[in-house]
Amino acid sequence: MTDHKLTLGELTARKRDGRKLVMLTCYDALFARILESAGIDLILVGDSVNQVLAGRESTLSATIDQMIYHAASVRRGAVRTPIVVDLPFLSYQVNVEEALRNAGRILAETDCHAVKLEGGAAMAPTVRALVDRGIPVIGHLGFTPQSVNLLGTRVQGRDDVTATHLRDDAAALEAAGASAIVLELVPRALATEISQAIKIPTIGIGAGNGCDGQVLVLHDMLGLNEGFSPRFLKRYAELANEVKDAVTRYATEVRSGAYPDDAHSFE
Ligand code: KIV
Repeated sequence: MTDHKLTLGELTARKRDGRKLVMLTCYDALFARILESAGIDLILVGDSVNQVLAGRESTLSATIDQMIYHAASVRRGAVRTPIVVDLPFLSYQVNVEEALRNAGRILAETDCHAVKLEGGAAMAPTVRALVDRGIPVIGHLGFTPQSVNLLGTRVQGRDDVTATHLRDDAAALEAAGASAIVLELVPRALATEISQAIKIPTIGIGAGNGCDGQVLVLHDMLGLNEGFSPRFLKRYAELANEVKDAVTRYATEVRSGAYPDDAHSFE
């Protein structure tokens, strides 16, 4: 069924109307159902899944098969929300043909709606090739996690040279037909300037409130990822504490014999 609340082609109109876009990551059907019922505009099946759920050090280990597994799960939970899937490391950088085949596989095998890839002007020909074949693309600039070994995990675009690159990269992605651009770890003033300079929406994470929308990693904003608290992250819940408390009470009751009681047993 393609009864979406919003299509990727409508994102620019949404920006023109001045309505902020709300995006969250999601990796499974259960949370996808909750996000859809909460009215989230866009879901991102991020390659951060390998850090958040699989405990890997970076996103570089994610594979196309993993992304397809998680994207198909999310799609089963969220049947109306547009779903964007990360193209994992080396699935699109080698050449345009591989990018087309891998992005096509993701859309064909998951029924999701768009792919996201990292990089600016260098990726523009790939973005153009995907868009020309009907595959919507969201770009990703600033701190690009697949380049963590080059960039470190730090704010990008603080000096004139890198700020100019960011502005040029955003313009190149827009010209190539990208539907939106994620701006990660970018100074607020620069992110605001880029957002005002292009017609497609920017979706910020650690890029201030001048962006056209925001994205966070769901497990981080729910407080499930203990010990991870970068400055930009606001926790809207402290679920790790709640989970620990529930598990501790369960363990206590099992050990004491209080659970299962009569109400939770069959005669
Ligand atoms: O993989 C991911 O979760 C992302 C977000 C941080 C934007 O790319």
